[in-house]
Amino acid sequence: MTRGRFITLEGGEGAGKTTQSVLLADALTAHGVGALRTREPGGSPGAEVLRGLLLGGSIDWSPRAETLLHFAARAEHVAETVDPALAAGTWVICDRFFDSTLAYQGYGQGADRSFIASLIGLLGIAPDLTLVLDVPESVAAERMRKRGGDADRYERLDSAFHARVRQGFRDIALSEPDRCVLLDASADIQAVHTAIMTAVWTRFGQ
Ligand SMILES: Nc1ncnc2c1ncn2[C@@H]1O[C@H](COP(=O)(O)OP(=O)(O)OP(=O)(O)O)[C@@H](O)[C@H]1O
Ligand SMILES: [Mg+2]
Repeated sequence: MTRGRFITLEGGEGAGKTTQSVLLADALTAHGVGALRTREPGGSPGAEVLRGLLLGGSIDWSPRAETLLHFAARAEHVAETVDPALAAGTWVICDRFFDSTLAYQGYGQGADRSFIASLIGLLGIAPDLTLVLDVPESVAAERMRKRGGDADRYERLDSAFHARVRQGFRDIALSEPDRCVLLDASADIQAVHTAIMTAVWTRFGQ
């Protein structure tokens, strides 16, 4: 059994990660590639419990505790969902992964980035390809306004926080060009999808 490919989508709120993960999974399925869509924080029963504490809870966690909660959820998600699917030959499309912890907790909230980098190294798994969706904050804000719904703990933070997160994702993409592709996600949905499919087939050569 050939191990599946592990693809993550990253970027700030409103960048289009969820929209594009659906289109990518559907395109892979249409191509005859079995694909599982999942997301973080969450993606397995235990990790979803931690998601509730991180996104909905009223506790203002200290930066290291918040980082560790994200990694606890991630370890559970990898063990219960991601690894079994990859081992079965399924491609895994994951909406956010460890780059979000570096961007939000590290760049955004000031948690020690070397602490986060150590945890990334200890995790034992890295994506085969990471698609970093980049949009100006004004575009993201307009999309979030149109989408509506209640804001989570991170969405409620100020524009300086979101600017640091965006810069974090850009830095990550540029510092790891073998794994990451930085995409202009301000184009329309179909154009972004086409760019994603080009990146996927360029990387995996099918
Ligand atoms: N390229 C695009 N052009 C215009 N609107 C878009 C585009 N991509 C997504 N949208 C719309 O913007 C909104 C946010 O998109 P989506 O939910 O996919 O973003 P997200 O990155 O998953 O955000 P979050 O981090 O909050 O989950 C949705 O209403 C979606 O339909
Ligand atoms: Mg989403």
